[in-house]
Amino acid sequence: MNISMPGETISSKRYESRVGGKGANQAVAIARAGGTIEFCGTVGKDGEWIVEYMKKHGIDISGIIVSEDETTGRAIIQVSDDGENSIILFPGANHSELHEKRIALSCQLWFPEATHLLLQNEINYQSTLTSLFKAKEEGLCTIFNPSPMLSPAQIHAFLWDKVDWLLVNEGEAEALYRGSCTGSQDSTALRDSQNFSTTSVKDGIASLLASLDAFKNTNIICTLGADGVLAYLRRSDGNGSASVYRPAARLQGIFRDTTGAGDCFTGYFVSGLMKYPPDARLGGDVSEEDIARILEVSNQAAGMSVERPGTIDSIPTRDEVEQRIN
Ligand code: ADP
Ligand code: NA
Repeated sequence: MNISMPGETISSKRYESRVGGKGANQAVAIARAGGTIEFCGTVGKDGEWIVEYMKKHGIDISGIIVSEDETTGRAIIQVSDDGENSIILFPGANHSELHEKRIALSCQLWFPEATHLLLQNEINYQSTLTSLFKAKEEGLCTIFNPSPMLSPAQIHAFLWDKVDWLLVNEGEAEALYRGSCTGSQDSTALRDSQNFSTTSVKDGIASLLASLDAFKNTNIICTLGADGVLAYLRRSDGNGSASVYRPAARLQGIFRDTTGAGDCFTGYFVSGLMKYPPDARLGGDVSEEDIARILEVSNQAAGMSVERPGTIDSIPTRDEVEQRIN
């Protein structure tokens, strides 16, 4: 099958419906990693099978709203015979305002015992901001994976000081850096962003991002695909940062399906962080070695998801990951 061009109607050979979306993938990864997780979001009545799937994986689904008059968000993925993807995102109930109304009405976030809040950028923007704000008021640790990327205007207005951990892949790091520099008063940052292609070192973009004022209190984790991961850790006393690099896991077998590797990484990373207090910082409750260990386990889990077909179904359990590491 080829991918349809404008004006063209083509027929597919096969059709499959799978559970997905960054939020669902990352929640399942946290559950498989052994973390306790409540999922918050909105689906339509057509999405109840997805809620069932999450429940089966041990995810607390009491924070899910089923909207009477919205349709569940979907990604419609065309896969050509040679494996190339073309994706149409339909946000549907993901962009519902019901969730934000619920947060605004209740005096706290949804989960009284929550210690960490993990956000993607797949719900409506205002809900993301409101959730972040409430979470910091309640002393939660906040982790943000801005995917899909915010617009430049949103990047400038974003509450970055409320983000404890920023999780990005290289493409997202670059988009975030360029977006931050667009219209920036900082001429050095702007010049650097224009000369970006000359920056050849792998960690170029992540260190540029870490140098921006907006992220001065934010720990940055930048995944580098087959090259592993680079972390910039902020010290608890506010005195600079330390970087920790961990190479990717060595893969077994020849199969490669990288879709969702980032979500698997994120879930394992967050479940690792959840073993520490919400306000854990370098020089406080966590050491470079602690973070290096979490990165290693997360790389191993993500690598195993690459070895297996599928996205959400390819996320390994903690036992499987530990067997491979030890
Ligand atoms: P995304 O899936 O968001 O594009 P990356 O491509 O950076 O994110 O991959 C996330 C993580 O998955 C990497 O940090 C690495 O641990 C693992 N990974 C991805 N591709 C490979 C690969 N080819 N070999 C081994 N590990 C990989
Ligand atoms: Na996979």
